[in-house]
Amino acid sequence: MIEKKWWMQAVGYQIYPRTFYDTNQDGVGDLRGIITKLDYLNELGIDLIWIGPFYRSPMDDNGYDVSDFYDVDPMFGSLDDAKELIEKAHAKGIRIILDLVLNHTSDEHPWFMEARSSVDNPKRDYYIWQKGKEVEGKLLPPTNWGSFFEGSAWNYDAKTEEFYMKIFSNKMPDLNWANPELREEMFKVARWWLDQGVDGFRVDAIAHLARDLSFTDSELPLNDHGVAPDWGKFSNREELFDYIHEFNEKVLSHYDCMSVGEVGGGAKIEAGVRYAGYDAQAFNMVFNFDHCWSKGGMDILNDDDKMIVDVVQLKENMAYWINGMKDKGWLPHYWLNHDHPRVISQYGDPEHHHRLSGMMLGTILLTLPGTPFIYNGEEIGMTNVDYESIDDFKDVWVKNNAPALLKKYPLELVLRHLRRTSRDNARTPMQWTDEVYAGFSTVEPIQKINRNRSWLNVEAQEKDEQSILNHYRRLIHLRKNPEYLETLVFGDFALLDPKNPDVYAYTRTSSQKKITVIANFRPTTIKFEHQAKALCLSNYLDTKLNVTELRPYEAIVFEE
Ligand code: NOJ
Repeated sequence: MIEKKWWMQAVGYQIYPRTFYDTNQDGVGDLRGIITKLDYLNELGIDLIWIGPFYRSPMDDNGYDVSDFYDVDPMFGSLDDAKELIEKAHAKGIRIILDLVLNHTSDEHPWFMEARSSVDNPKRDYYIWQKGKEVEGKLLPPTNWGSFFEGSAWNYDAKTEEFYMKIFSNKMPDLNWANPELREEMFKVARWWLDQGVDGFRVDAIAHLARDLSFTDSELPLNDHGVAPDWGKFSNREELFDYIHEFNEKVLSHYDCMSVGEVGGGAKIEAGVRYAGYDAQAFNMVFNFDHCWSKGGMDILNDDDKMIVDVVQLKENMAYWINGMKDKGWLPHYWLNHDHPRVISQYGDPEHHHRLSGMMLGTILLTLPGTPFIYNGEEIGMTNVDYESIDDFKDVWVKNNAPALLKKYPLELVLRHLRRTSRDNARTPMQWTDEVYAGFSTVEPIQKINRNRSWLNVEAQEKDEQSILNHYRRLIHLRKNPEYLETLVFGDFALLDPKNPDVYAYTRTSSQKKITVIANFRPTTIKFEHQAKALCLSNYLDTKLNVTELRPYEAIVFEE
């Protein structure tokens, strides 16, 4: 029997503060905006918020490049606003977790400014420095390793004539976790926020804290940027687990808090158990990305009509983690976060079956075991962007990589690719109303709004019983209902008909109940037989207990 904790029964909601709600009319979302919308969140039924980084930052990567961990960026408000937000959320029974960025800082963080000032500065070793390689009279980076956002994993620093490591952008130097003094500094940051009352952390980019310190070249083939995309050089490496244990021992274990690490792609169950097993003394859960791209779409040349959701792969990827972690550790579930396309554009059908496919996706998310996280706007079925100019995309990855793409492919192809894959898709302002700035702000927002705000917005869906929003509310209500909670949160999970190419179906079983969830992922009618005893919820109003076929995107929760 596992020990039941509050965060296991929570329904999470991720807020991207920059584009959630703007109260001071500067076109950027702010902490007071979140305070203003607490009633909305309360009515939705969620009880845990993960807020994206709002520390002081030059915003090269929208706040993941932190220049002061102990302050709120003026763009988002003040420390007093943060404290008020924590207090007011708690008063409504909503807990708050912060995004804790441990892997890197901004190059404008005072530590880095000191570190780069001279090779013997006391802060030098807070970061990772290496000399370059002289090859045929040219100075090359210390290794051929690639980074996630642009070219090499190294950037040259002229002042001291060395390279610093940076696996994200040039403005995000990696911290050296091998240095015990640096680790203590980062533990201090975490403690300080817990002492302000936050309930835990989503820990950013956690898989990368340890690197191959032999700094040898990768054997992998070089990509178009002339670097090796060899993430193994700085992902899921052995020493990392020592750092996480130390973090747990010195910080997390002293608070009634929760922690969810971001491990991204590449980790398998064995690593999952080390990161977030019940006995791991590490984190409480880890996010993986395995279910995020089951429609293809990463290949720029793919035609739209070739992109069909691979339902079997999607089920396999999710079941791999659910079954693999069973009795070993707890899992979070999510369809998307601020780094992914909108799920309705990815796996649903926003054009022809917006309402039904949005409800269908919510049905799955909220009936899986583990802790679900809804991403802001998902509950109304917000879609990918409709941008027609590269300049509308604001993400650092696009800025760094679009020029090379445009050299290789025509503009229309690049735009289509970005409208499918870019991180901007999830970062457009929350659509509260049909007004010109979607009720997000009264001035032009920092990121261009989707034109579909005219019909796709919270206000319209509030009024419609059969909206995606109201369906999410019903689903959360069902999950939280004491009669169902044991089964839906803690019950066993088993796929039904796993090889069915169109239908995602499973049972959830506890000593109290058996629930069957059946979801059609296609815009067409699909044959599927099931006889149930009682209906809990459906996205059609006339679903029968005797199912012989599923209508487009039909999603049903039955009780057996
Ligand atoms: C993961 C975050 O989710 C992403 O938005 C960010 O760019 C990187 N980590 C770097 O902090």
